[in-house]
Amino acid sequence: MRIAILKERAAGETRVSATPETVRKFIALGAALSVESGAGLSASIADAAYAEAGAEVLPEGQAVKDADIVLAVQGPDPATLAGAKPGVWLAAVLDPFGQRARVDSYASAGIEALAMEFIPRITRAQSMDVLSSQSNLAGYKAVIAAADTYGRAFPMMMTAAGTITAARVFVMGVGVAGLQAIATARRLGAQVSATDVRSATREQIESLGAKPVFVDKVAGIEGEGAGGYATEMSEEYQKAQAELVSSHIAKQDIVITTALIPGRAAPRLVSDAQIASMKPGSVIFDLAVAQGGNVEGSVADEVIERHGVKIMGFSNTPAHLPADASALYARNLYNFLSAFWDKEQGRPVLDEEIGNAVRLTQGGKVVNERLLG
Ligand code: NAI
Repeated sequence: MRIAILKERAAGETRVSATPETVRKFIALGAALSVESGAGLSASIADAAYAEAGAEVLPEGQAVKDADIVLAVQGPDPATLAGAKPGVWLAAVLDPFGQRARVDSYASAGIEALAMEFIPRITRAQSMDVLSSQSNLAGYKAVIAAADTYGRAFPMMMTAAGTITAARVFVMGVGVAGLQAIATARRLGAQVSATDVRSATREQIESLGAKPVFVDKVAGIEGEGAGGYATEMSEEYQKAQAELVSSHIAKQDIVITTALIPGRAAPRLVSDAQIASMKPGSVIFDLAVAQGGNVEGSVADEVIERHGVKIMGFSNTPAHLPADASALYARNLYNFLSAFWDKEQGRPVLDEEIGNAVRLTQGGKVVNERLLG
């Protein structure tokens, strides 16, 4: 049973899908590991560290030879897996809706593609949940990047030369990334407020010491759909939300937006008029910029200035913390494969609930319900 670790090919991708720690653990399960040379460099992991952990380090294209399982961060071109065994598993973040044609080509190449972002959000799969591990770091990094761009300090400081007031930070969307953004901004000493459409988040915001800002006047708002995700809100709600946000946002120094609705473009939460109402020097970090953006005018990987306000966002935020993002992602993959390890067969055998959720292709066909429906 051979597991191959790819060097990521996508521009700007700094993460890697295995660390020396997970290599050792896979070897302890009885697997042989091969790693493409240079795979870990941008995450500060040298080839020698993989070799020391027991992996074979091979030139690009050689490591997949005879592999039963290939691990990656982003979905590779199917040709990258040439030389692997027929029916090879590919476990990575595959963007199945955005990269549908590539999923079809995995099927025709005989690859069994497993989409890590389709791990169900159930208790026993929490340690395998790549969306959570990466969003948590993204929420942290968004606040750090915004603080670095902001021309003032976050905490209140009483100095001999006078007092600096604490920054006001407003977090819009309180999922995994938003909760970490609140916690990080609080640690830096900011005054934090937050909003979400899911009323269950009110208590979570309060428990982190932040102020909830919620639309109360529209009856029957729950905002929570299947799997704990947000639903698209009514026009009446959206209007009430825009009014509430308009009056609040004008007093904020930093806004962090994280709002996503699965399978749809990110909801527009901040308009140009609202940006114009903010103080010059304020900073908005749009964590949803790669999914269409929550903020009017945001552009991935650029800092745009509008009405004196800086608007920013990264196309791949976890890639800005390559070492930690890789360590957590690699553990997610290990936790996933080891949970299903069959000692007799010496390889993982997925169960129905998680296997059917993540498996996109099998036996030359696309088999995933979410892609067929
Ligand atoms: P997400 O990345 O899909 O969305 C981010 C946040 O934006 C969500 O809180 C959402 O409610 C909010 N949002 C959407 N539209 C909005 C709007 N118009 N205005 C303001 N906010 C808006 O969310 P994420 O982080 O993936 O979490 C989704 C759910 O999954 C949460 O309920 C979370 O607690 C749950 N979860 C469960 C896990 C488990 O059981 N294993 C693991 C991780 C998350």
